[in-house]
Amino acid sequence: MIKNQNNYKCSNCGATASKWSGKCHSCLEWNSLQEIEDYTPKSRSVKGDTEFFTLESSVNEISRIKTGIDELDIVLGGGFVSGSGILLGGEPGIGKSTILMQVASKIADMDKKIHYYSGEESKSQILLRSNRLDVSQRKIQVSTLSNLEEIILKINEDTPSLIIVDSIQTSFSDRIEGIPGSINQVRYTCQELLALCKSLNIILILVGHVTKDGQLAGPKTIEHMVDTVLYFEADKGNELRLIRTAKNRYGSTSEVGIFKMTSTGLEQIKNPSSLFLSNSGDNLTGTSVFPANEGSRTILLEIQALVTPSLFATSKRTVVGWDVSRLSMLLAVLESRCDLTFSNLDIYLSIASGIKTSDPAADLAVAAALISSKLNFPLDSKTVIFGEINLSGTIRESYNTEGRIKEAEKLGFTKALISKNAKTIANTKVEMKKINGLVDFISYLKTISNSMDDEY
Ligand code: TYD
Ligand code: MG
Repeated sequence: MIKNQNNYKCSNCGATASKWSGKCHSCLEWNSLQEIEDYTPKSRSVKGDTEFFTLESSVNEISRIKTGIDELDIVLGGGFVSGSGILLGGEPGIGKSTILMQVASKIADMDKKIHYYSGEESKSQILLRSNRLDVSQRKIQVSTLSNLEEIILKINEDTPSLIIVDSIQTSFSDRIEGIPGSINQVRYTCQELLALCKSLNIILILVGHVTKDGQLAGPKTIEHMVDTVLYFEADKGNELRLIRTAKNRYGSTSEVGIFKMTSTGLEQIKNPSSLFLSNSGDNLTGTSVFPANEGSRTILLEIQALVTPSLFATSKRTVVGWDVSRLSMLLAVLESRCDLTFSNLDIYLSIASGIKTSDPAADLAVAAALISSKLNFPLDSKTVIFGEINLSGTIRESYNTEGRIKEAEKLGFTKALISKNAKTIANTKVEMKKINGLVDFISYLKTISNSMDDEY
């Protein structure tokens, strides 16, 4: 074998280097360079019998299998597509094996054959879980096999409709050097399983571990290989579980499925719009309500901010559920456009219940919570606030104004603070206060707060 000139590879981005260094020259990740293990792929023969096709060729409608678990069907874009590969990532203990056992049971109810390969757990551990979930179908064939060649043999013998490999990091091939979970092993097993399942039109679900910073362990290339990537999220000590789509070749990536971990498995939460509100009904300082657009639905989130004098030379920025760099940008806009200084203040910002949002319309609600805490006046608990803030301090219209207002109305909110460019919604009792820019916004918040004081 020719000695490879690039002896090190980045486990984060896949870039190669001839010498080891602490930082990857391509993605700048620290400690990600690893020595390349011998990679000897199977020799493939060139047949040369593949024909080109042109784009007017007709395509068959893709066939989907609904899991019957609506929250999961939403994130999948309407169910599993036959022959597709799905990667399910999440921290240990979050509920990956639990939901997959529940999915297997639903698919088995449709009289379809399932292979469940669990290289992570013993037979008794698997049986304990299935008893707890009350799953006992004979159509689910469970095995603790983790050797790829043996798994492929079983699949070829039996051709099931669904294969679950729990997890891709414990599976390994005899043809590849390196321990299970190493880059080459993970990439090779993933590639072989995907190719086989595509050729036999089998749905393949791979479970992937995530590292401490929430990335899928192993090369990023696995995410490129599969059709769909789902991530399990949870807040520590909270029974809520969210499944988000990070990639989907057969549907939208903005959807989120919401579940609750119970003593008998994961239960779906069908009407989550008010789930994340504390419902105290009091007008609180530093607390605003934001109607977040999560895929095809609106969920109301409570944004809490606490702004306190800093005890140290460098002020603290602690953020849960929102992007820290977005907060820095917002603070810079508030400082330069509205003369509000935060530099000597510690900021704690949190989205209640551990949910994360990347909806840009959260800017205005976050700004309201920060301003209210800094200037020490309460916000009206019956008002929802949304809009993206431009660097100029103006407010941009948000996507789906109507959906957000209608959901807020359903939950008893009476007022919405929105961009002046937002279109007026007919047939709603929610008063829509259109805001010109941040300076206007602050004086309006103060006026409402004063009028609330007068009412008491
Ligand atoms: P599991 O699905 O094994 O997590 P993962 O595969 O992501 O590592 O879930 C393990 C946790 O879920 C464990 O702490 C026990 C809890 N659990 C329940 O609360 N209820 C249940 O019905 C089941 C099966 C597990
Ligand atoms: Mg597991």
